[in-house]
Amino acid sequence: MKTKILDINPKKINLAKIKIAAEVIKKGNLVAFPTETVYGLGADALNEEAVAKIFQVKERPFNDPLIVHIADIKELNRLSKQIPPVALKLAKAFWPGPLTLVLKKSELVSDIITAGLDTVAIRMPDDNIALGLIREAQTPIVAPSANLFGRTSPTNAQHVADDLEGKIEMIIDGGKTKVGVESTVLDITAEPVRLLRAGGISVERLKEVIGQVKIGEELEKGLRSPGMLNSHYSPRARLILVEEKGEAQVEKVRRLSSEYKAQGFKVGIMTKEENQDKYNRFQVKVIGKGSELKTCATNLFAVLRNFDKEGFEIIVAEGLEEQGLGLAIMERLRKAAAPKYEC
Ligand code: TXA
Ligand code: MG
Repeated sequence: MKTKILDINPKKINLAKIKIAAEVIKKGNLVAFPTETVYGLGADALNEEAVAKIFQVKERPFNDPLIVHIADIKELNRLSKQIPPVALKLAKAFWPGPLTLVLKKSELVSDIITAGLDTVAIRMPDDNIALGLIREAQTPIVAPSANLFGRTSPTNAQHVADDLEGKIEMIIDGGKTKVGVESTVLDITAEPVRLLRAGGISVERLKEVIGQVKIGEELEKGLRSPGMLNSHYSPRARLILVEEKGEAQVEKVRRLSSEYKAQGFKVGIMTKEENQDKYNRFQVKVIGKGSELKTCATNLFAVLRNFDKEGFEIIVAEGLEEQGLGLAIMERLRKAAAPKYEC
């Protein structure tokens, strides 16, 4: 299959082009498109055959449920049979935006989307291309991140092409995504609501709006939450995460990098900007200032992909502060560092 690349300027949306992409969705085919978090691989949520193609193309196991993307809050009533007040409160505060709500599903939502669960994950993305596509396709759109299963999520159209060129009908190129990590996933069928995946909306911000948020035990222990494997977001290189703080961190990064280099591996260091001069003998990529976690989140996946492109075999990565978006970054780095399993 020849994958069509459709350039759309996010600042000046060309509706005719959005309509072309929407036709592809309507026909039951796949379109990768930008959202504010990462690129998604979209299919018509109401077409089971189209949804099945996502699993096939991504090589994703069927027990990993998908997020349904909507452009109008009224769609909640079609997709969920029980909308607690906290859902509306969260939607009002954070939609469109990087927050996914897990609710009781309605009959309309097929089991292939939810992996047989009686709940469905829903979000409204904060991206005019994504919203336009959903509106023009006149259907909710399911979209996992547009990468091969278990790999680093794509934050630009080239990343998508690197994984999926020739396997899908169309990629919309709308430039670089602004958030850079996936949406926060919140189970609001639980009481108090439970964080299943840290993401673009920080726990601190959620607490400002709804008070209590329980951090899922899976997340605390770094274990799997529904459909989330321990090993995920993996670059091809082996990633070693150094969680020490201050000088101890720098020393350990230096020691590990030296050891692997001595063994003949091509070693790269992912560092905070303020430490980059401390690794002069090594090859270094900067994720951003340690105090600017938003920038670090935006850069994270692209930096990991760049290490892969340049053939690094080992990435020694400095851990970041686990506050605000730092929690989402660290969750991803821990998973990227986890041993890989067959699935
Ligand atoms: O930012 C995002 O959320 C991106 C963009 C494209 O929207 N999408 C994304 O999708 O990250 P994906 O498939 O890579 O991750 C979906 C996550 C998985 O961890 C899955 O387990 C969880 O959402 N999920 C989906 N449905 C669920 C459900 N019913 N209950 C619990 N978790 C669910
Ligand atoms: Mg993903």
